[in-house]
Amino acid sequence: PAPSKSLNDRLCLLRCDITTLSVDAIVNAANKSLLGGGGVDGAIHRAAGPRLLAECQKLGGCATGSAVITDAYNLPCRRVIHAVGPVYDPLDPTESERLLAGCYTRSLELAAQHGCRSVAFSAISTGVYGYPSREAAPVALSAVRKFLVGPEGDKIDQVVIVTFERKDVEAYHEFLPLYFPP
Ligand code: APR
Repeated sequence: PAPSKSLNDRLCLLRCDITTLSVDAIVNAANKSLLGGGGVDGAIHRAAGPRLLAECQKLGGCATGSAVITDAYNLPCRRVIHAVGPVYDPLDPTESERLLAGCYTRSLELAAQHGCRSVAFSAISTGVYGYPSREAAPVALSAVRKFLVGPEGDKIDQVVIVTFERKDVEAYHEFLPLYFPP
């Protein structure tokens, strides 16, 4: 794609604990039950407090490749978007890619619909769900770019890609210049 400073200014990488961010919405790496778990999901539920689980229980689950939005309770952000990434299937990487891209696209659609202009993503599926970071990063960057330049893109001011582990930091530094060229 062609370089665009105004587009590049709307995306940043940040290595941090996503539960500390005061953005409009953070995106959780949840599971289909929405009832919590380990990893970033566990950290978000611990920091948000028990009312988050109570709201999630009422939603009755979420399909893989999609997302739902809740309040954020004790977190400093305004909303939590719970995206359900795929368990990486090495026998069907194309389907894994379609589902992972769906998480990013659906999360941004939900953010836009709910007036969330700044959105921080966790590295969906790259932990327990086994998606290789070097394969997940281009899928995420491609979906985010497509949304930001698309018809609803002007509803989002800032996307933060949150990394936590070194492998994701490295993958994003490798692929960012390909999808958001300087
Ligand atoms: N802040 C930001 N990122 C974090 C944090 C945190 N506090 N804790 C972990 N991470 C990162 C991990 O380093 C990983 O890159 O979140 C990414 C996603 O990893 P997982 O949390 O394992 O999520 P995922 O691979 O999508 O697996 C989802 O794990 O916790 C369960 O309920 C969840 O069953 C679901 C499954």
